[in-house]
Amino acid sequence: MAFKSLTPGAMLCPVPAVMVSCASEKDRPNIITIAWAGTVCSQPPMVSVTVRKERFSHHILMDSGEFVVNLVGEGQLRAMDYCGVKSGRDEDKFAACGLTQTKVAELQYAPAIAECPLYLACKTEQVLELGSHDLFLGRIVGMGVQEELLDANGRIDLQKAKLVAYSHGVYQSLGPALGFFGYSVAAPEVLERRMKELNK
Ligand SMILES: Cc1cc2nc3c(=O)[nH]c(=O)nc-3n(C[C@H](O)[C@H](O)[C@H](O)COP(=O)(O)O)c2cc1C
Repeated sequence: MAFKSLTPGAMLCPVPAVMVSCASEKDRPNIITIAWAGTVCSQPPMVSVTVRKERFSHHILMDSGEFVVNLVGEGQLRAMDYCGVKSGRDEDKFAACGLTQTKVAELQYAPAIAECPLYLACKTEQVLELGSHDLFLGRIVGMGVQEELLDANGRIDLQKAKLVAYSHGVYQSLGPALGFFGYSVAAPEVLERRMKELNK
């Protein structure tokens, strides 16, 4: 195998594509699809989303200092794509996609999307101007999950959410579990039990 050297690009794949909902005192709730998002810290819990200045949502994020990251399952995929090709400048994307706004207790303006499996309510801590994109560093101040995704022990079972991955322009389902954190060193009986649970 031999590598061919290419012009550097931000080719990190696969990534989640999420729907970021936002609103401000002046602007009705809007949704922007974001693939360049990331977990950046667990204590305090923080995520980043990177947004081009020319996006309609950019000024809403700047004005309000808050946003909601909504995870996307297969049932929301079409809406997620739509929110990534249409602008809130021209239309109400909640209405156009038949999505429902849900009040988030921890935030003033931005609603969560009721149809999504899980949301992270964020307050912006910093905005970094990187070049083509500005990075909004959000502290997660609230989180909500659909009740049916909780198992009998109150643990989140994201297998049921049918989350979608985004890889170089293509949306893909996740497929069966191939392993779990630490599976390479797990005892054989643990490995067998967990894999059965994960793929039941
Ligand atoms: C899968 C996908 C991922 C996207 N990721 C980003 C992103 O990370 N940052 C960004 O600024 N725009 C991204 N976009 C483009 C915006 O979602 C798109 O320009 C949208 O129409 C902006 O909406 P707004 O004008 O209402 O803010 C993405 C679009 C799609 C379809």
